[in-house]
Amino acid sequence: MAAPAAVAQEAEEAAAEPRCLMCHRETADQPVHAIFRTPHGQLEGGGAASCVSCHGASDDHQRGPTRNAPDVSFGPKWESATADSNGACLTCHQKEEQMFWLGGVHEQEDLACTSCHDSHTPRDPMLTAAGQLENCLSCHTRQQAQMRLPSRHPILEGKTACTDCHNPHGAATEAMLTAPTLNDNCYECHQEKRGPFLWEHQPVTENCGYCHNPHGTVQPNLLTARGPFQCQQCHSAAFHPSVAYDGRSTTSGSSNQYVLGKNCLNCHSQVHGSNHPSGARLTR
Ligand code: HEC
Ligand code: HEC
Ligand code: HEC
Ligand code: HEC
Ligand code: HEC
Ligand code: HEC
Ligand code: HEC
Ligand code: HEC
Ligand code: HEC
Ligand code: HEC
Repeated sequence: MAAPAAVAQEAEEAAAEPRCLMCHRETADQPVHAIFRTPHGQLEGGGAASCVSCHGASDDHQRGPTRNAPDVSFGPKWESATADSNGACLTCHQKEEQMFWLGGVHEQEDLACTSCHDSHTPRDPMLTAAGQLENCLSCHTRQQAQMRLPSRHPILEGKTACTDCHNPHGAATEAMLTAPTLNDNCYECHQEKRGPFLWEHQPVTENCGYCHNPHGTVQPNLLTARGPFQCQQCHSAAFHPSVAYDGRSTTSGSSNQYVLGKNCLNCHSQVHGSNHPSGARLTR
């Protein structure tokens, strides 16, 4: 029988030198070595040391691998509490994009990093447009439906992505938007709408969302309501070409073809703002 001192030393060495790879060989069931084709395979100098940076030293597991869980496990047999498994990732990823994870909506909803990320694949699915979209839509079924409406951002076509507008790790903004305000977000791609305009239209400078739904709508141009009704959410229908659009609602009493059943935009075409000297009414 070995002296207690020798046993202790052996245990210490085991702890110092993780033996993960002796047991965890590459198999079809558990292709764990694919991790060596990712940046994580090089952590702590690579090899088994890299395993430890996510799964912990796992001494108990190494001694009794079928009885004892690794310090941190993401399943399938043992699953650490979400806070613990996320904690393992957050030891390294708490800056930049992940800065607002804690307190963010997805954290509050108890999502795990691994709800989206797959560390043991050569290319994390979140880093491809298709993988990302499939993932977001698997939970966000309302957006999935909106994206298929007649007017929509070209998300399915891959020209815009959820992450152009949202940071799934959380943000200090409403709806986890990537820019400080909703309008700033839109200006990133629609710069011409920023102005400055000689004649501004107040709701436009305030919030594009008053009139547009970014995911998709049944009206053209991502508008949330039809023609005059869009405008009449704010502008009284009582004083000016109004709901009825018959001759009575105009000052002249005429049934001008531009008024009858027509859109306010026929005359007020510069709804986002005007730079024309006499564009105060957004007509030119
Ligand atoms: C003595 C062999 C042995 C060593 C050493 C070993 N493992 Fe394991 N490990 C196993 C076996 C066997 C299983 C499967 C357990 C089961 O399904 O009952 C396993 C399972 C796992 C799992 C999956 C847990 C789950 O919830 O399904 C992880 C993660 C893991 N080991 C990580 C490690 C890490 C990291 C190291 C090194 C620090 C390590 N193992 C060292 C044999 C070992
Ligand atoms: C970047 C963190 C990270 C590193 C480094 C890492 N793992 Fe994992 N491991 C995970 C995550 C996350 C899972 C859950 C499955 C997934 O997302 O790919 C997992 C799952 C596992 C499983 C269970 C796989 C299954 O599906 O049955 C084993 C076994 C395992 N890891 C062993 C290892 C070994 C061995 C190493 C070192 C070669 C290692 N891991 C390095 C994060 C890591
Ligand atoms: C010991 C530090 C460490 C830990 C723990 C860690 N990472 Fe990383 N991770 C890195 C480094 C270093 C890189 C490469 C540089 C970079 O992209 O920031 C990286 C890159 C990534 C990338 C980009 C991958 C790529 O192919 O470019 C993702 C996604 C990621 N980590 C997610 C995770 C998740 C999820 C976990 C927990 C399961 C985790 N990381 C745990 C250090 C770590
Ligand atoms: C709701 C899904 C989701 C969750 C949950 C999630 N991520 Fe991500 N992650 C993504 C997407 C999508 C990207 C790609 C970002 C892009 O393309 O702009 C990404 C990218 C990353 C990257 C790559 C480098 C970077 O910063 O862009 C790292 C590192 C990362 N995530 C770490 C984490 C960690 C750590 C957690 C848990 C605390 C986590 N992620 C949780 C979806 C998620
Ligand atoms: C062009 C920018 C943009 C794109 C692309 C985008 N969103 Fe949004 N999203 C927004 C804005 C802006 C809001 C805030 C709406 C509000 O508060 O009125 C929002 C709100 C949300 C909300 C909160 C609930 C709600 O409807 O108010 C969820 C969930 C969401 N988006 C998911 C997604 C998903 C999933 C994708 C990808 C399929 C996506 N978004 C693509 C801009 C975008
Ligand atoms: C595992 C399920 C799940 C996945 C995957 C997921 N989400 Fe979420 N997300 C939620 C839940 C739950 C909420 C909170 C309820 C809601 O607003 O729908 C939420 C909320 C949001 C919100 C609204 C935040 C707010 O302030 O109201 C946005 C934006 C969002 N997710 C974007 C994304 C994006 C982008 C992806 C893909 C990278 C994604 N989500 C993937 C479950 C998920
Ligand atoms: C990442 C870039 C990007 C961002 C950010 C963005 N858009 Fe777009 N938007 C596009 C693209 C690309 C199109 C399609 C242009 C085309 O087909 O010519 C588009 C089209 C539109 C359309 C016309 C849709 C139609 O049916 O023709 C509207 C309205 C619109 N965006 C409003 C917004 C609003 C409001 C925001 C902010 C919440 C926003 N966009 C943010 C890229 C963006
Ligand atoms: C008062 C309602 C209203 C607000 C607020 C508004 N829009 Fe519009 N938007 C419209 C209408 C109506 C149309 C369709 C008529 C047109 O093309 O001018 C439109 C069309 C668009 C189009 C597609 C046609 C084009 O002109 O390129 C884009 C892009 C757009 N808006 C972006 C924005 C952005 C970005 C904001 C915020 C800065 C915004 N809108 C705020 C009413 C509005
Ligand atoms: C979210 C509320 C809102 C919506 C929707 C809206 N507006 Fe406005 N609009 C305003 C406000 C506020 C002003 C500034 C009023 C003022 O200065 O007295 C304004 C000003 C105007 C003016 C200039 C009036 C003036 O006295 O200088 C015109 C023209 C106008 N809007 C047309 C439209 C049209 C056309 C639509 C539909 C595409 C529309 N508005 C939708 C809130 C809105
Ligand atoms: C046939 C053309 C035409 C149509 C259609 C039209 N307008 Fe006007 N609107 C004008 C003109 C011209 C003025 C400027 C009148 C003036 O300076 O006295 C004006 C002025 C306005 C003003 C400023 C009112 C004020 O007190 O000075 C608002 C707000 C307005 N229109 C909203 C709307 C809305 C909302 C609709 C749709 C329901 C609409 N307009 C449809 C031509 C039109």
